[in-house]
Amino acid sequence: MANTESPFNILVIDSEESSIHLIKEHLSQHSDHPVHFELSRTSHEALDKIAENRYHAILVNHSLDGGKGVREVIREINRRKISTPLIVMVPPNSEAEAHRAIKAGATDYLVKTENEIQKFPDRFRTLYRNYELKTHPKNLEDEITAQNMEFLQMHTKLRDLATRDELTGLYNHRYLQEKLIEEFARAVRYGHSISCLMIDLDFFRSINDQLGHATGDEILKEAAEILLMGSRLSDLIARFGGEEFVILLPHVDYQGAAELAERFRETFARHTFLGNSQAVTATVSIGVSSFPEDAVKDRSDLLHFADQAVFRAKAGGRNQVYLYRNIGPTLKDALPHLKISEEKIFEFQRKLSEIADKARRGYVESSKMFIQALDSKDHFTAGHAGGVAKLAMQVAEASGLSLDDSEIVGHAGLLHDIGKICISDEILLKPSRLTLAEYEAMKQHHYFGYRIVKPIKFLREEATLILHHHEWFNGEGYPCCLAGNEIPLGARIVSVVDSYDTMRLAGGRYKQTLSVEAAVNELIACAGTQFDPEVVQTFIQVLLMKKELAPESYNRKRLREVIRSTSQK
Ligand SMILES: [Fe+2]
Ligand SMILES: [Fe+2]
Repeated sequence: MANTESPFNILVIDSEESSIHLIKEHLSQHSDHPVHFELSRTSHEALDKIAENRYHAILVNHSLDGGKGVREVIREINRRKISTPLIVMVPPNSEAEAHRAIKAGATDYLVKTENEIQKFPDRFRTLYRNYELKTHPKNLEDEITAQNMEFLQMHTKLRDLATRDELTGLYNHRYLQEKLIEEFARAVRYGHSISCLMIDLDFFRSINDQLGHATGDEILKEAAEILLMGSRLSDLIARFGGEEFVILLPHVDYQGAAELAERFRETFARHTFLGNSQAVTATVSIGVSSFPEDAVKDRSDLLHFADQAVFRAKAGGRNQVYLYRNIGPTLKDALPHLKISEEKIFEFQRKLSEIADKARRGYVESSKMFIQALDSKDHFTAGHAGGVAKLAMQVAEASGLSLDDSEIVGHAGLLHDIGKICISDEILLKPSRLTLAEYEAMKQHHYFGYRIVKPIKFLREEATLILHHHEWFNGEGYPCCLAGNEIPLGARIVSVVDSYDTMRLAGGRYKQTLSVEAAVNELIACAGTQFDPEVVQTFIQVLLMKKELAPESYNRKRLREVIRSTSQK
């Protein structure tokens, strides 16, 4: 291309001149096209120039005017429907920022290191060829080639976006699953280690509630950056969902993974998040699993084990690292009997997520379908979930909870046993008494239910109630051995109603159906140990109001004594 051609105009928007010098230097060595550069030091100055639309490429520094500049430039280009390629220049390790800019409308990004800028002439050639094909199509074939290239670029950009989490720019859940298949197969084939960290921001829900979702989102972005900064290029960092992140560590053994987890825990504990306007601190709980040290049979085990470990880290008081290999034998022994695949959990997560997208109103009806599926699978408990939902909501209202909070308790009642859908039929439908191991497996339904429901943003509170619906008032329940008021009130209500309904179920599996009076007296007998006596009292008031229980037919004296003795403690 002769230099008599009209020049290829590039606008560089950067407060420093250093980048323009470097790019010029490399282009002059590697390109024979006439190139004209213009520099704008502020976005304000650049917007007028952009409006004239005489550039063939625009390069903008991502931190221009404190980050506002790049957003203004992108907005202007979008508003004016200008098709000029826009390249965002970012410092090293700012992949997340770059992907956010691409999501907003930028064409590509360029890392501002000498090494990367050296490669710019290659990209420049593509830009220039597109420009040539667009402005001087030699024939129809050239035009089609230009369109194909544009299509290819758009396809690449869309593919990239489909693998990324929109908020943080990290890889998304789906991409993690795809890469996990490859990386795990490679580790097995070549006999090297692979480890997994599952990282959960502690008390994130309270941060969202108290400081608003905008601040919560900023904290998630900052957390993603901490993880990016502290990882190697070969590590795969993904947002797993909500406030949970996963880091996949190929070629890293247990010790290395545990050390990295501890480093992240310390970094988060020391870090002050700037949020939107106010400084916030937030710790993390981290679960670690590792192949081949853990008995990982397939790639889904690696995630599942890390998830079990993070669950223990949270139950143990948060701000801690928990290694899967340190989980006691009882739970581990129960696992083989679960006959549950990770895919099954993901499948139900995905189904419920789709329901969530359609809107909250549709959710109640749709989730009833899941319950019906469970009901039709287990005829022994048909109608149980619906019965618990209705009664739990009435007890919640009688306890003085707002209508919204009572609805949450009602939904938790409806979904409390949804995790049973993941339990194998041979355990769920076994007509005879369960063995100890089978019983242990069955006991995990609260945890599966929690994992199925947790990813749905508006069912977060319900998920917590599902998790704790088998806690005991005296602290001897599971999974977290919470006691008294540590157990969320909604979970204490579901616990009482669940037990009552089970005792009253017609055709129950092992027992005779109890009368209302006998079931209520059983609740009273367990008040103070298994059940919150005050919830039992409110529950009885509801039955009295509904005239389902005669006033003198239950052991009122014992209930009063239990309430007195527990309130004195
Ligand atoms: Fe249950
Ligand atoms: Fe139940």
